[in-house]
Amino acid sequence: MTITLAFDVYGTLIDTHGVVVALTRVVGKPAEFLRTWREKQLEYSFRRGLMRNYENFAVCTRDALDHANAAFGAPLSQRDKDELMALYRVLPAFPDVAEGLAAARDAGLRLFAFSNGSADAVETLLANAGIRDYFAGVVSVDAVKSYKPDPAVYAHFLRQAGATGAEAWLISSNPFDVIGAISAGMRAAWVQRSPDALFDPWGIEPTLIVNSLVGLAEKIA
Ligand code: 2OP
Repeated sequence: MTITLAFDVYGTLIDTHGVVVALTRVVGKPAEFLRTWREKQLEYSFRRGLMRNYENFAVCTRDALDHANAAFGAPLSQRDKDELMALYRVLPAFPDVAEGLAAARDAGLRLFAFSNGSADAVETLLANAGIRDYFAGVVSVDAVKSYKPDPAVYAHFLRQAGATGAEAWLISSNPFDVIGAISAGMRAAWVQRSPDALFDPWGIEPTLIVNSLVGLAEKIA
């Protein structure tokens, strides 16, 4: 049985913290601003999925940026916001990612990027981060006009990857994504990127918990 891995992108492969440096120039509390921006970005994706009122993830990201800006007293100019959105398309990978992906590929696992982001945004992000070549493909929820953790997006991934749930793992730092994938019949590894990160008390536990992609392949293959 060939095992397929679906890697979440933002916060799992790609470090969105890179935005904090740019924010430091223009807002007084950059880490809090980024947290508000990320939380609102995800909230907007959840709401749009439930409402069946889909707009792509860049729209959720831009609307969330406008909200965070208003919440922090509107320190950002239009130009600042345009620069931050451009930065969001070229963020760096976490330091463990290349080594972890190379080991998984060399172990014969099939690797895909699987994201709320549109295919072109994810392709750009992975290419710029120098990690696109590890993946057999990029699967975006955009094709089904909904968002994680809608079961339809995990079913879409399995169809695109030509895998069954028993053959596929989701790899994500986002508990909502891990719970969504397991609930849709996949296995899932939670990448606990921070020791302070908490997993939701739903009684649905990750198949595996890691704090780095290094060593992941041995635990799965
Ligand atoms: C993703 O990349 C939102 O991090 C989530 O799909």
